[in-house]
Amino acid sequence: MNAALAPEHAAAAAQFSLKPLSFRIGEEVIGLDLKRCDEISDDSIAALWRTLTHRGLLLFRNQGLNHDQHLAFTRRFGPLALTGLTSRYAPEGYPDIFTVTNIRKNGQRSETENAAQQWHTDQTFLKVPARASMLRCEIPPQNGGDTMFCSTQHVYDDLSDGLKKTLEPLSAFHTLFGTRSKVMKGRKALNDEELTRVEGSVQPVILTHPDTGRKILYINEQCVDHFEGWTIEESAPLLDYLYAQIRHPMYQYRHRWSAGDVLFWDNRCTQHYAPLDYDFANLDAPENRRLMFRSTLA
Ligand code: SIN
Repeated sequence: MNAALAPEHAAAAAQFSLKPLSFRIGEEVIGLDLKRCDEISDDSIAALWRTLTHRGLLLFRNQGLNHDQHLAFTRRFGPLALTGLTSRYAPEGYPDIFTVTNIRKNGQRSETENAAQQWHTDQTFLKVPARASMLRCEIPPQNGGDTMFCSTQHVYDDLSDGLKKTLEPLSAFHTLFGTRSKVMKGRKALNDEELTRVEGSVQPVILTHPDTGRKILYINEQCVDHFEGWTIEESAPLLDYLYAQIRHPMYQYRHRWSAGDVLFWDNRCTQHYAPLDYDFANLDAPENRRLMFRSTLA
């Protein structure tokens, strides 16, 4: 029996096994063929979800999914969310998929070539942020192109009682257009309809995970502009301190992609970051191409 599986999911142990990716975050799931996700039992899906919410991240190696198979597996966990601020990054015919790539189109640089240059959790600028995300790799760069993940429930656990008490009543304003955000750099301006959808949101600084009951540090460098009721200048030193904790390697797992890998993460209790650790100055060289596809759960 795997430690991450609760006794009520004993039957799921027959369909897959788990192997920790690191001490604080992530499990590799072994033994499932996601192309045939209709053959995965409801009990196994419940066990995967439980493992995801407790361990933050699941890895399924060498799956080779196409868009339909990717969406079918995502849907086993609930309805899909809007995948990004607009559908302009969707592959043709798949509005629910967000393309993350550095491959040029018609000679133009990709607007998502460096989409994850700051630690973040997906779509916290929306009033209802994404619950979980699933990213699959079609083409990894030959050297690098990794994605890093942080367990923000463990970051919270290690804060002092005094700081936890200070943070508990606070909320923060999340926006794509904040003083620190780099995400819109190099992207085409949004139209009026898109702007109404991304007008920003107020989120608690300490989130209680609805499935596990654990507390989580829920601020991120990409979207948080300031604490509600505080100025940007007043917020900055405390935010800097908290972001430094999130960057500490003890809370992290770093994934080196192979084509066919699928990573599934819980956006409530993790953050992620893609460090551009490959030859980003020579994007046209075939060995530097990176092509990934992401779906999100509402
Ligand atoms: C993302 O933030 O969804 C993309 C992460 C990556 O490019 O590795």
